[in-house]
Amino acid sequence: MTTAHLADRSTAVAARATELSKIYGQGETQVVALDRVSVEFRQAEFTAIMGPSGSGKSTLMHCVAGLDTFSSGSVRIGDTELGSLKDKQLTRLRRDKIGFIFQAFNLLPTLNALENITLPMDIAGRRPDKEWLDRVIGMVGLSGRLSHRPSQLSGGQQQRVAVARALASRPEIVFGDEPTGNLDSRSGAEVLGFLRNSVRELGQTVVMVTHDPVAAAYADRVVFLADGRIVDEVHGPTADKVLDRMRSLPGGNPRTPESDAKGRTS
Ligand SMILES: Nc1ncnc2c1ncn2[C@@H]1O[C@H](COP(=O)(O)OP(=O)(O)O)[C@@H](O)[C@H]1O
Ligand SMILES: [Mg+2]
Repeated sequence: MTTAHLADRSTAVAARATELSKIYGQGETQVVALDRVSVEFRQAEFTAIMGPSGSGKSTLMHCVAGLDTFSSGSVRIGDTELGSLKDKQLTRLRRDKIGFIFQAFNLLPTLNALENITLPMDIAGRRPDKEWLDRVIGMVGLSGRLSHRPSQLSGGQQQRVAVARALASRPEIVFGDEPTGNLDSRSGAEVLGFLRNSVRELGQTVVMVTHDPVAAAYADRVVFLADGRIVDEVHGPTADKVLDRMRSLPGGNPRTPESDAKGRTS
């Protein structure tokens, strides 16, 4: 890979939110979930979004991914302004340009692994790029399990299917909301490794919400939210650096093995 190619990739923006606000409810019960958030997600970059519970992480992800409406501001995926789209166009953009990985694996129990991986494309009537699909399936180590149903796979393997499904259509950007939240640490580390490899080797753009400093350390940068605002950013994160920053956030009181142990005994 040439440096020119790298420079080119690093300047292109896959998604951008500008002055994005999201307000739930009205009057007394009004909640400002996002307060004029501006953030860029560059191509072939792995970003983690962190912050205390209720700080707006999921709301930000859902608004940028076109899964939820916003109150003001703008969101762009590639060159497309989401606010300008009609419902049908938004559905198509989500289907064609965005991959999703959730905490719950969300696989269809009656379909085997391969059918689950290609389902979004089948629904869209798109033929998978065979070479790309083989690469993705090989990368997540599922080649020998494609005919297994979800019930015949471990949690970690099911999430690998979900990762392959998110990458299969070669989307512009992949969003994960706590993608390792339901996994043991070993399976979680595997899935995070696949996400990182999809960025390094396949040039994917990945945005992941997590509350786990170890998970965040797999990313290229970490964006911190507090009370619906971006309050900090770390490049080249390590788990220790992330934990330090979390401690200094308003309302930041991250879970640690020590605090968990205390929580159990008190
Ligand atoms: N559907 C909703 N209706 C009302 N308030 C909501 C809704 N969804 C989220 N909120 C509020 O918006 C804020 C941000 O929530 P969320 O984005 O889920 O935070 P996080 O993912 O960081 O835990 C919280 O105060 C939450 O209670
Ligand atoms: Mg959340």
